[in-house]
Amino acid sequence: MTTKEKVRDLFEENRGVYFSGEEMAQRLSISRAAVWKAVNALKKEGYVIHAVTNKGYCLSGQTDVLSAQGIRKYLSLGIADMEISVFPAVSSTNTVMREKALEGAADRYLILSNEQTAGRGRSGRNFYSPGDTGVYLSILLRPGEYLSGHAVNITTMAAVAMCEAIESVSGEKAEIKWVNDIFVRGKKVCGILTEGSFSLENGMLEYAILGIGMNLYDPKDGFPGELEGIAGTIFQTRQDDGKNRLVAEFLNRFYACYQSPLPWDYVKKYRERSMVIGRQITIGIGEEIKRGRALAIDDQCRLLVEYEDGRQECYSSGEVSISWDREKR
Ligand code: BTN
Repeated sequence: MTTKEKVRDLFEENRGVYFSGEEMAQRLSISRAAVWKAVNALKKEGYVIHAVTNKGYCLSGQTDVLSAQGIRKYLSLGIADMEISVFPAVSSTNTVMREKALEGAADRYLILSNEQTAGRGRSGRNFYSPGDTGVYLSILLRPGEYLSGHAVNITTMAAVAMCEAIESVSGEKAEIKWVNDIFVRGKKVCGILTEGSFSLENGMLEYAILGIGMNLYDPKDGFPGELEGIAGTIFQTRQDDGKNRLVAEFLNRFYACYQSPLPWDYVKKYRERSMVIGRQITIGIGEEIKRGRALAIDDQCRLLVEYEDGRQECYSSGEVSISWDREKR
């Protein structure tokens, strides 16, 4: 661990507490000059550090910088030892994680980034991933007894956990647009992309990569034209330690469900948060677009749609749009 990381972790574990330079130097077995250098480097990274004569240094509670220790301090006991890497920017956390998975990285490895230069969304689309205002993460899961068809359960479990995390940290109501989009105040604030590899021999998932992109704050230059009116943010103002708290809250809730002996109970919560049930929708599968009414979501998280001629069809995937105009009439 570098000197800067040692200083950062001491601060993160003691937000709001003053330490003299001498005390920090002693605790961390480094020189006072090294403490001073580390404090300055952390300030440049966005850490708000107060320096007061006769009191020393203190990490302000306002600091909102993503870090492994900043997340770990909020994690439940069962997952507090998970391996976490945080990067300033990567191409795509899912792409980086795939390389790590192929190199043999262990179950529960978590990669986070403040920015993605080639973020990927579903159906081959890009995922807009600007720096500083979002958090982009991938978790490596080696679920053992999951069939490849259960990958959708990982996505939908994560959607429920993310809604609960958003509500607990921001107080805002979060809803799910089938299958994997999270909406707050009528705008998409979070997308989920689960990718994986399964064995052709037994159909079991060898590993899954759960990728999640969250828009916490307004991007500096706003959302690009094509996302205007569609994309939104979880928070309306800057939050104290918002990034670390939101990620940890999500991880605690996701793992509580994923590791539970009755994990499928979450489907009820998924249905309760659904924006589509009972609504007129269009559903796109490849080039084909159909209109109908979303009737229900079954225990495998498939969407049951009824067409105007009374026929019904069950979908495991597809792009849903809610037809607000038709409903108003
Ligand atoms: C979607 O809405 O279409 C899914 C978006 C998923 C984006 C996340 S961000 C972290 C991970 N890395 C990626 O490249 N994509 C996922």
